[in-house]
Amino acid sequence: DWTPDSFIETTVAALREKLGDDKVVLGLSGGVDSSVAAVLLHHAIGKNLHCIFVDNGLLRKDEFEQVLESYKHMGLNIKGIDAKQRFYDALAGLTDPEKKRKAIGRVFIEVFDDAAHEVQDVKWLGQGTIYPDVIESVSVKGPSATIKSHHNVGGLPDFMKLKVVEPLNTLFKDEVRKVGKALGIDPNILGRHPFPGPGLAIRILGDITPEKVAILQEADAIYINNLRAAGVYDKVWQAGSIFLPVQSVGVMGDERTYENVICLRAVESVDGMTADWCHLPYDLLAKISNEIINNVKGINRVVYDISSKPPATIEWE
Ligand code: XMP
Repeated sequence: DWTPDSFIETTVAALREKLGDDKVVLGLSGGVDSSVAAVLLHHAIGKNLHCIFVDNGLLRKDEFEQVLESYKHMGLNIKGIDAKQRFYDALAGLTDPEKKRKAIGRVFIEVFDDAAHEVQDVKWLGQGTIYPDVIESVSVKGPSATIKSHHNVGGLPDFMKLKVVEPLNTLFKDEVRKVGKALGIDPNILGRHPFPGPGLAIRILGDITPEKVAILQEADAIYINNLRAAGVYDKVWQAGSIFLPVQSVGVMGDERTYENVICLRAVESVDGMTADWCHLPYDLLAKISNEIINNVKGINRVVYDISSKPPATIEWE
């Protein structure tokens, strides 16, 4: 019978056998899959696993620092790379969602390739690929599509010439979570809502500026912290905030304001293919709206998305 413990035992032994004294590089995203893959590899080969975690400037508030800290706490050999400015430069002026995705994918590959070159004699690329990624090629929006489109223009980056090791490629998501739990991984990492690779860049409609990112991070932190405090976070499949490219009139004291709108999104889903909007309690929505408008400079209106998928999508871009 499959149990997380038996899976861990046989997988770690098989990885040790396969990898011997070889070095592996692996990109961590803060998500469940790459984290569990990293910890399994770490059990098998210890310091020969070199993890790379890129700050693309498009993560949630304080997420890079917090996740980096918990990875270090797990004993992983990890390098955090501040590449915020490179991503902002590449995104400047872009408004088309697919162009934004391509720019982010391209810069990620460049940054990762540079970091991988610093690991002498590396032989393997570790990946958190899970079974559903293997059977159906990932959605057109997914990171692999970005990598493929990169091939056609610039040739293969060096790290993609490495042999690939994918310890989770027989598992479904719920099994990955069970393995992660048995490995003692931080529940905050295991229970995290899905978060798109391009991050907040596809939750800011229109062009990206560091100022808009900062506003969205503040609003989103208020939203997510309130979901946690109300005990709702774990019941929701995915929640996030969207910065709308719209200004509307408001009033603050005796002043007329003309500022941006934040949209809150929360959905229930099994696999992201279809989704229903969550019927969050009105009182909770009211509290979140007040907190955002009173505390986040640049926002004077909050709306809630009541669209399901299909025909809407979960993200707005
Ligand atoms: P949609 O918006 O298509 O999203 O209903 C379905 C799921 O996919 C995530 N998503 C992405 N994940 N790169 C990713 O890694 C992307 O470009 C991307 N676009 C959407 C989305 O967050 C949801 O979980």
